[in-house]
Amino acid sequence: MNDPTNKAIGKPLDRVDGRLKVTGAARYAAEFPLKNMAHAVLVQSAIAKGRITNIDTSAAQKSPGVLAVITHLNAPKLASPQSGGGDSSGGDAQVTAANAQSGESGSAGGENPFEKPVPVLQSDQINFYGQHIGVVVAETLEQARHAATLLRVTYREERPATVMAANLANAYKPQSLLIPLKPDTQRGDIQGGLKAADVQVDHTYTTPNEHHQPMEAHATTAVWDGGQLTLYDSSQNVNGVQKTVANTLRIPPENIRVIASFVGGGFGSKYPVRGHTILAAIAAQQVKRPVKLVVTREQMFTSVGFRSHSSQRIRLGAKKDGKLTAISHEIHTQTSVFEEFIEHVGVATPMLYDTQNLLVTHRGVRLNLPTPTIMRAPGESPGMFAFESAMDELAYALKLDPIELRLRNEPERDLEKGLPWSSRSLVESFRQGAKSFGWERRNPEPRSMRDGRYLIGMGTATATYPTNRMPSSAKVRLLADGSAQVYLAATDIGTGTYTMLTQIAADALGIPTERVRVEIGDTKMPRTPGSGGSWGAASYGSAVQSACVAVRAKILGMARLDPRSPLKGLSNVGMDIREGRIFSKRDSSRGETYQEILARNNLKVTEAEVESTPDEAAKKYSMHAFGAQFAQVRVDPDLGMVRVTRFLGTYGAGRILNPKTARSQMIGGIIMGIGMALHEETVVDDRYGHFVNHNLGEYHVPVHADIPAIEAFFVKENDPHVNPLGIKGVGEIGIVGVAAAVANAVYHATGKRIRDLPITPDKLL
Ligand code: MOS
Repeated sequence: MNDPTNKAIGKPLDRVDGRLKVTGAARYAAEFPLKNMAHAVLVQSAIAKGRITNIDTSAAQKSPGVLAVITHLNAPKLASPQSGGGDSSGGDAQVTAANAQSGESGSAGGENPFEKPVPVLQSDQINFYGQHIGVVVAETLEQARHAATLLRVTYREERPATVMAANLANAYKPQSLLIPLKPDTQRGDIQGGLKAADVQVDHTYTTPNEHHQPMEAHATTAVWDGGQLTLYDSSQNVNGVQKTVANTLRIPPENIRVIASFVGGGFGSKYPVRGHTILAAIAAQQVKRPVKLVVTREQMFTSVGFRSHSSQRIRLGAKKDGKLTAISHEIHTQTSVFEEFIEHVGVATPMLYDTQNLLVTHRGVRLNLPTPTIMRAPGESPGMFAFESAMDELAYALKLDPIELRLRNEPERDLEKGLPWSSRSLVESFRQGAKSFGWERRNPEPRSMRDGRYLIGMGTATATYPTNRMPSSAKVRLLADGSAQVYLAATDIGTGTYTMLTQIAADALGIPTERVRVEIGDTKMPRTPGSGGSWGAASYGSAVQSACVAVRAKILGMARLDPRSPLKGLSNVGMDIREGRIFSKRDSSRGETYQEILARNNLKVTEAEVESTPDEAAKKYSMHAFGAQFAQVRVDPDLGMVRVTRFLGTYGAGRILNPKTARSQMIGGIIMGIGMALHEETVVDDRYGHFVNHNLGEYHVPVHADIPAIEAFFVKENDPHVNPLGIKGVGEIGIVGVAAAVANAVYHATGKRIRDLPITPDKLL
């Protein structure tokens, strides 16, 4: 049989969980009203480096309502990444550090960086300001907060190193990056390529420390029942939490259930397990009651990771006609003194444009700050700011239109991997985007366009993000009433997972979307990867699709072999399904419904569970989504204030399952990119080593008044290679290149090149 008439995929279906969310019925991690709940509050270090010499907890312990005060003096001994976890053999989703973000399936011996133990309160050593040094549990939140202020902590303090620029002399070459990219990538002859150039640019670009700001702060509610632990956790990755907590507490993963039915935003910080989740579990064990722990907005700045500052020297060489002769991208980012996380900032550089001569290097600097982590489009997001700014500088040096420069360097295939593109719509995105944006109205001369006393600028940049897919499983049940239930551990972090899985299941089963119910966000369901790397739709969607096909095959088999069925003897290709009714293609009166088949066979349900793994054939292609970003800015020449007045993004991202939720992802990414361009920066006070602006009053994210009319659309792209549904994923590409497009527009408006984000008024005056 062919696929049933495709009706739901590609339609702008409203979010199926929308009503639950707007009515408040959707429960988030801190909203489960459990009986006898106790409240936990974190206590954090007030120095960045040194040792705790004493913690006096006596006043806190005597404070009203206090149930427990846990510090390194009385915390249980936990596994450390060095000692390994309690369960290193039981997992079927073991993936290596190298492929954890790449979508490649696991290989032996590797360790998933997102499943390593997360030890907390294990010693008196302080590695960064805001490190957890205790947790106070009390009857009420207020009592816990008050008691937490009563701890008397004394330290032996050492001078911390917290600013990367001041410590570049200590940079080192890391062993590996998070993804399968070596710290150094080289091809051809970089010096020769630069020498052969008619025109060169050589500049250093910097991006600041940035912090994830999901609306819902991280939170965990922990409940023990005997040896069984249930965690309601604000997480992008329930199976990862299960595994990591098991490894840390040295208990079997089967004893842990993790629930994240709804997540109020996740931009990477909710992918790994955080110390507070472990502390909630320990606290609940100690007080023998359910414990709720919510990370405050202020604590979010020290407790859940951040995007590292980066410094990137880019050298480009080109012939007069714009043909690139060399690309060099030398990167420094920071990591912490106790863990390694080196962002793969140069990941897109080797494959983006056509050049034989290339150098990309990554170096790290260890600082007394929390460990950086993944944040929406980790790698591409800071990397493409620098690279695409440099491309704009090169276009001006060549007196060439910046779009034309990119078109002249369009590679026929991925020169780094030596593979053909599964599909690549960069040129088409620029063509359609430029037309839609009105690029031809742009006078290329900087400072030439005005609106009254304001300077107007238009800028553009390339966007790209890899197409990933991870092994995922799913279970589908078809019920006697003809409705279907879909189960998998997957999370919906606001992207629309519930909705697009509903559409996929509806089409695969040939039933209306109203008859599909999707349940996700629970380790009781079949195992899946977390929501990250833009692989959710491709991974979960492929699993749901194939589970539906398996269920459908079971039912069709029952009918075809049954003398009582009007479908008896029909072949698969002879049948079609519409609205839950299977019929002969030749004679549509000859047919019956799912309900009739199940009823005749006395079945309440037919179900199938599958594990779906990426296709080997896909490895023969280089798979990425591409897009073109366009910004218009208005700059006040006296005050240096920049407003983005228009933004347009055009993308080729394979099949778009739901144009409404996909567009929403693009717009969200663009807004986050505008934040990166103009607002976001966490400042470290090197004297004390703390993030100064650790609140939403001083860490600026865009608000409504900062955001212009944004347009985003997808070019038609049919990719037969990436996965059976042709999905590339849209969670991250929206942010990539946005900051460069804005910076390029600011240069066009003012003639000033800002190479250091964010672009604040002081830098323009
Ligand atoms: Mo995304 S940074 O992979 O959650």
